[in-house]
Amino acid sequence: MEINIAIAKGDGIGPEIIDSAMEILDTIEKKFNHKFIYKEVSLGGYAYDRCGDPLPKETIDICKSSDAILFGAVGGRKWDNLPVDKRPERAILGLREELGLYANLRPGILFNSLKDASPLKAEIIGDGFDIALIRELTGGIYFGEKGYKDTPRGKGAYDIELYTEMEIERIAKVAFNTAMKRNKKLTSVDKANVLEASRLWRKTVEKIGKLYPEVKLDHIYIDNASMQVIRDPRQFDVILTSNLFGDILSDEISMLTGSIGLLPSASLGEKNKGLYEPIHGSAPDIVGSNKANPIATILSAALLLQHSGGLEKESKTIEMAVHKALADGYRTADIARGNEDAIGTKEMTEIIKKNIEKMVLN
Ligand code: IPM
Ligand code: MG
Repeated sequence: MEINIAIAKGDGIGPEIIDSAMEILDTIEKKFNHKFIYKEVSLGGYAYDRCGDPLPKETIDICKSSDAILFGAVGGRKWDNLPVDKRPERAILGLREELGLYANLRPGILFNSLKDASPLKAEIIGDGFDIALIRELTGGIYFGEKGYKDTPRGKGAYDIELYTEMEIERIAKVAFNTAMKRNKKLTSVDKANVLEASRLWRKTVEKIGKLYPEVKLDHIYIDNASMQVIRDPRQFDVILTSNLFGDILSDEISMLTGSIGLLPSASLGEKNKGLYEPIHGSAPDIVGSNKANPIATILSAALLLQHSGGLEKESKTIEMAVHKALADGYRTADIARGNEDAIGTKEMTEIIKKNIEKMVLN
C-alpha cells in the first residue's frame, strides 16, 4: 500500500524523535512491502525563523494533500515573547483547525514492564490500566472569541468557551464508538456545576448516549476527575472531554504511566486523514543530547498506520516491538529508575528496529 506522509519535524527534540519514527516506518515498509512517500514541511519556530510565519501556506497545502501528517513538537524559549499569531504553537493549532481534526485520541496505558516508573503505589496500580482519553480538539476555549477590554475593574483579557451541539455530538459519537469496541464504559468529564457550555455538553452527550444503550455512561466534574485518576485509575476505560480539560487531564494521565515520553496521540477528522504526534513538547533542555525518548513518536507512527493506512498488523508489530524493548529492560533516561542504565534515543530506536526485523508473523 502507498501512503503519502507529510513530515513535520518542528523544533527542539522534534527532528530527533521524528528521525527515529521514520527509521521505524522504513523498517515496516521493507518488511511488509509498502511504499511510504515522505514530504517534509516546515513549521513552528523553525518556520518562523525562516519566513516569519509559524505555519506557512505551503505547509498547510502539503498537509492537506497528504494522507497523514507525522508531527514532532513545536516551541522553545527563544520564541516565547512573540505575538500570539507568530508563536510556534500557532502551527499545531492552525493545522488542527485547517484540517478539521476535531477528535484527539490519547491512549494512557501503563505497560506491565514499567510499573516501577509510575509514581503510583503498587496497590493502586494493581495489574495496570488502559485509559482511552478522547479530547475535543477544534472547539471550546482554544478557538472561541478572545481579546482585551476595559472593565470597571481595569483592563482585562478574555477567552470564551463556546461549544455548539454539533461539535459535541460528533466528538461524543467518536467516544461512544470507541467504547463499543472496548468495554462499553464511558466517562464524560465536564464542569456542569459551574459552566453553561458544560451543561450543554452533558445534555448533548446524554442525548447521543441514547443511540448507544449498551454503553454505560457516567459524568464527572473535571476537578473530581483529576483526583480520581490518581486515586484509582483502573475505574476508567474511555474518557470523553473538552479541549482544555483534555489538554490538562492527558498530561496528568501520561505521568501516571511513567513518563510523558511514552504516549502517542492521533488527531482525526471526518475521513481517514490524521495528524499523529507525541503528547509531549519540544523539551529544549535536552535538544541534541541523544536523551529524548523516541517511543511516543514511534507509537504515533503506529497509530498513523492503523488509522490513516488501515494497516492493523503493521501497527501491532510496532507496538509489540516497543513492548519487547521495555520488557527486555531497555530504558531511556526519563524512565530509568535507581541503578538502571539509560540508553539514548538512537540506541532505543535501533533496538525497536531489530525487534521488528526479527519478529516472526503468523
Ligand atoms: C498539546 C499541547 C498543545 C495544546 C499546545 C502546544 C498548543 O499542549 O497538544 O497537548 O495545548 O493542545
Ligand atoms: Mg498539552
